[in-house]
Amino acid sequence: MKNLPLNKIVRWLEPGPLVLVTTADQGKNNIMTMGFHMMVQHDPPLIAFILGPWDFSYKALVGTKECVIGIPGVDLMEKAVDIGNCSGADVDKFKEFGLDGLNAEKVKAPLIKQCLANIECKVVNTDLSKKYNLFIVEAVMAWVNSDRKEQRIFHHKGDGTFSVDGRTKDLKDRMTKWKDLIK
Ligand SMILES: Cc1cc2nc3c(=O)[nH]c(=O)nc-3n(C[C@H](O)[C@H](O)[C@H](O)COP(=O)(O)O)c2cc1C
Repeated sequence: MKNLPLNKIVRWLEPGPLVLVTTADQGKNNIMTMGFHMMVQHDPPLIAFILGPWDFSYKALVGTKECVIGIPGVDLMEKAVDIGNCSGADVDKFKEFGLDGLNAEKVKAPLIKQCLANIECKVVNTDLSKKYNLFIVEAVMAWVNSDRKEQRIFHHKGDGTFSVDGRTKDLKDRMTKWKDLIK
């Protein structure tokens, strides 16, 4: 095996799909792109993510303690990258990228109509937010959009390259210890 520089481990451990996070601050809707997130708990569903003060979205998240995590399909891949390369301070990203915000039910931040799924979230823990910009949010409502033709999600490999979901392999019959999770 060859030595792997530590700043490259993200390419192997990147945990989930690239997501879009919306916030609403005093009526101003915004979107950012996020690769660093993980599930923390099943019930109630908790998610941890990194959202830094370099993002315009930070103030909105800290101020409102609410956001929506949207999961884009492959058809939104280029837009998702572009959304993460500009700031809501300068541009109305919903308008700029032709995305539609829909009213969420439990938070003020909007759902993204073009996403495959949207998860309404409330911040429940900020113990590590000063040190690591880490927030724990609880999913309080979720939506899926099965009408979208493109259902594949995609993953950031940490360096501007992306992998796209391919075949799904069903190994549910081997998950004998975790029957409750696969119902
Ligand atoms: C592929 C990709 C992944 C990103 N992941 C994160 C992340 O996990 N956390 C974060 O704070 N910023 C992340 N960013 C950066 C923000 O999306 C970027 O700073 C964006 O401009 C913030 O938008 P805003 O200033 O309107 O909030 C990512 C950007 C890209 C392109």
